[in-house]
Amino acid sequence: MKYLWLLLFFIGTPAAADDAAVARGKALAEVNCASCHAIEAAGASPLAAAPRFPDIAVSFDLADLEDSLNEGVAADHTIMPDWQMTSEQAHALASYIISLAPGGKLKSEAVPGAQPDLAAAP
Ligand code: HEC
Repeated sequence: MKYLWLLLFFIGTPAAADDAAVARGKALAEVNCASCHAIEAAGASPLAAAPRFPDIAVSFDLADLEDSLNEGVAADHTIMPDWQMTSEQAHALASYIISLAPGGKLKSEAVPGAQPDLAAAP
């Protein structure tokens, strides 16, 4: 009961990536995206015109990517299907894609070395 506020905090933070969402996003990507995009950290896209997911991860942050997927990322893309997805699916896919950023770091998190960690209080 003491930690209920913590649980509510995490549920109430839409831009937070979590492991469950990443796993679900990967499963969705395998079925829906892998025919065109490289959906793993390494390897080329089956369709050369489709950017590799790790490259997409570098140019978007989680919230942006989630928004674009929600709004139909294909609006100005000709080859890519205009997905109808729930916001939960968009969150899962975006979480998975962002998890592929080099170093496995979320862009919204501090990149090691870029910003020093706050020293722990004694
Ligand atoms: C039929 C092939 C195809 C499939 C399937 C496909 N894509 Fe794409 N996608 C493309 C191509 C090609 C582009 C590059 C833009 C264009 O020409 O449409 C693209 C672009 C994108 C972009 C934009 C990248 C940018 O920098 O603007 C995102 C994000 C994306 N795809 C995500 C996905 C996700 C997530 C899925 C699965 C749910 C998916 N795509 C399935 C072909 C595909």
